[in-house]
Amino acid sequence: MTLDSIMKCAFSYQSNCQNDSSESEYIKAVYELSYLAEYRFRTFLFHSDLIFNLSPYGFRFRRALRTAHEHTDNVIKQRKASLKKDTELEKVKQKRHLDFLDILLYAKDENGQGLSDEDLRAEVDTFMFEGHDTTASGISWTLYCMATQPEHQNKCREEIRELLGGRNTLEWEDLGKMPYTTMCIKESMRLYPPVPGVARQLSSPVTFPDGRSLPKVFYVVTDIYKMVHTL
Ligand code: HEM
Repeated sequence: MTLDSIMKCAFSYQSNCQNDSSESEYIKAVYELSYLAEYRFRTFLFHSDLIFNLSPYGFRFRRALRTAHEHTDNVIKQRKASLKKDTELEKVKQKRHLDFLDILLYAKDENGQGLSDEDLRAEVDTFMFEGHDTTASGISWTLYCMATQPEHQNKCREEIRELLGGRNTLEWEDLGKMPYTTMCIKESMRLYPPVPGVARQLSSPVTFPDGRSLPKVFYVVTDIYKMVHTL
């Protein structure tokens, strides 16, 4: 459902991920890539490109990457074909609202240079992944928290019922008028952060106050999940 949403919002693409098996191939590939990336990270031997690439895990990784890239390439290809007639951004703007993909395709740097196909796919990949995996996780854990905390669930239900009146769908303007539900969503994401850690590669050495230091090129990871659950 969240992949259908991001596909519609950012790429104006009508997908049907919950029923169409070719779309769910992409989701399976994303699961596989996330699992293998994390497995590689914590398996010291696999830090070597050579060993990882020659292992069955490397083979699985390349296969899943191919599936994921085929999916994004397909979305980009379809849009490029439909924009062939409209080379002027202004003309497209007059016809419809620009989405994220239009903006990327028409983006130019100060020298009039657009994004290369590789850069374009990298941006589309990030949004496609970030835009559905995080929200799916956030929604699932919020529902889990509601299920385990019935008294809060009831307060949220009352708040939403009152806000809806007789309607059965929420509108954009309603989002700012549900403070209790918002607090519950935020608390669920604090307890179960959809992005449980962030990493950076050091561009220069770092020395800590106790005198210990980390050399350039090392990865530093902030474990957001652990910060919440061990304090
Ligand atoms: C509950 C939902 C979300 C959470 C908790 C979340 C969290 C994060 C975090 C923590 C980062 C920083 C990662 C880092 O600096 O290493 C990040 C980056 C990013 N997020 Fe999200 N995100 C969410 C939803 C989304 C959605 C819906 C989109 C796109 C539609 C999105 C697009 C991005 C992008 C493009 C970046 C990279 C920005 C950059 O280049 O620095 N995120 N997100």
